[in-house]
Amino acid sequence: MQILNTVSDLRAVLNVWRMAGDSIAFVPTMGNLHAGHIDLVNKAKACADRVVVSIFVNPTQFGVGEDYASYPRTEYADQDKLLAVGTDVLFLPTVTEIYCLDAAAMVTVSGISEQYCGAFRPGHFSGVATVVCKLFNIVQPNKALFGLKDFQQLIVIKTMVRDLNIPVEIISVETVREVSGLALSSRNGYLTDLEKQVAPELYRILCFAKALVLEGKLSITEIEQQAVKKLDSYGFKTDYLSICRIRDLNPASSEDIELVILAAVKLGKTRLIDNICFSKIL
Ligand code: PAJ
Repeated sequence: MQILNTVSDLRAVLNVWRMAGDSIAFVPTMGNLHAGHIDLVNKAKACADRVVVSIFVNPTQFGVGEDYASYPRTEYADQDKLLAVGTDVLFLPTVTEIYCLDAAAMVTVSGISEQYCGAFRPGHFSGVATVVCKLFNIVQPNKALFGLKDFQQLIVIKTMVRDLNIPVEIISVETVREVSGLALSSRNGYLTDLEKQVAPELYRILCFAKALVLEGKLSITEIEQQAVKKLDSYGFKTDYLSICRIRDLNPASSEDIELVILAAVKLGKTRLIDNICFSKIL
């Protein structure tokens, strides 16, 4: 595995691959890699000749008072994991390699970026769209893989790629969970031992809300209220729990068939997000 820190070094390697006719799959990450990230890398390997993984804790997607400074940086452990699964290149740029000091252009995907997580983290999705657009321009992959865990992020990126004609195929990958149901996340490391026992309730409550939707007795609003009440009872502070239609993430009506329940909560100091996708047609 080659570890490259500059855009020019990376482009030199990519050019050789392209000349040889190799297809390239790309997995952007912020590091502190867990089995969810590694699953993306394995799926990337299965769908292209070459795999590039980036690790870049992107400052523009963190708000004031968020965890940019304390975000877990585990460079050496990450390198071992990527080497073990046969990554071809790890792109590990510095902040100044990615952003020039007087950078003036940003990418904003309006509408969807202001809802749900966007409403609680203003500017977050603009930071994500900008860095992912820049990384796509740097790597120019044939395919890029993203986790369904960050469902809204996936929709923001798919919309950006569609609207800006970026020639990359976006592949979404199922959320990897602990046996308890807790979605793996780099931020799970912030949880105390006690909070770790409570955290899996988030996914259980999403499953409970899904079951109520399928049962069809209560309205969407009633189900959301019941789910939030359950979250309260476990000590979660709910940012939002919303039953949405998959196609545009607008609030679902009783006629919608393909649904996703999105949730973001705080448990102590840790913000957790999760979701569950399902169809009303069994
Ligand atoms: P990060 O949180 O490191 O996640 C990198 C990728 O791993 C994302 O596509 C995310 O959805 C996926 N992922 C995270 N947890 C997962 C899990 N439990 N199962 C499956 N996939 C999972 O998301 C980001 O970084 C950044 O916003 C980024 C896109 C890199 C832009 O900075």
